[in-house]
Amino acid sequence: MAEDFTDKVVLVTGAASGIGLAQAKLFKDNGAIVIAVDKNDISLDVETFKGDVSQADFIENLFTKIKTKFGRIDIVCNTAGILDGYSPVTETSLDQWQNILNVNLTSQFMVIKKALPMMLVQGKGVFVNMASIAGLVADGGGVAYTASKHAVIGMTKQLDVDYAARGIRANCIAPGAINTPMNAADFAGDGKMANWVAEQTPAKRWAKPEEVAELALFLASDRSDYIHGSVVPIDGGWTAK
Ligand code: NAI
Repeated sequence: MAEDFTDKVVLVTGAASGIGLAQAKLFKDNGAIVIAVDKNDISLDVETFKGDVSQADFIENLFTKIKTKFGRIDIVCNTAGILDGYSPVTETSLDQWQNILNVNLTSQFMVIKKALPMMLVQGKGVFVNMASIAGLVADGGGVAYTASKHAVIGMTKQLDVDYAARGIRANCIAPGAINTPMNAADFAGDGKMANWVAEQTPAKRWAKPEEVAELALFLASDRSDYIHGSVVPIDGGWTAK
């Protein structure tokens, strides 16, 4: 039987679209109090905060409000992220590099830095950080995206090992080809790129964002209490090749 998330306070970033939206919906459907964050409008009947997660002052404000209104935080899904156009080094400016690292990595660090002290007081808390197959192998993005996702995995492992004895669990999800607006370009026109990706995937298909949300729900639940500092691929066999 699925775990009851009633009264659990769950923060989901990137909740306006794709995987984050599916996570926010699924946690809500399972009884959680969902705090949804995105730079775009969120069309979901939960507590929403609009802003840029790569900005320190937005994160500061967000947690001031979370502390005042909810007084606790049980689960964080660090999901917001952006692709980098698959650019190699020579086509990546320093500004582009820093922007990708800020949005995909530093935002997660800033959220963790604010949520962790609250969780340590509670003696319990779970982080589900969004990596990618680009956190494990090359070619899932360009140099900046791949570096950012490898770093998310390193950060998550260290976070877990540093605080596991104090009731904290941190794990990463490493999705492969998930059909979300992030990959709209692959499906444009005759969808040749999307077909190629499916063909190259052992499971021969793209996944739905809801499938990733189910994994996040499991990793956030007590049923996965012994899963620590792990990276769980959900990639149709891509990284097993
Ligand atoms: P998406 O583009 O559908 O959703 C990403 C959401 O994050 C959007 O709503 C966007 O507004 C928000 N966001 C981006 N930058 C933000 C910022 N600075 N501040 C606040 N919100 C921001 O993309 P998708 O596919 O749902 O991606 C979610 C996560 O999953 C990302 O971290 C991505 O790297 C990762 N991922 C996605 C894969 C895929 O195939 N779709 C594969 C592997 C990883």
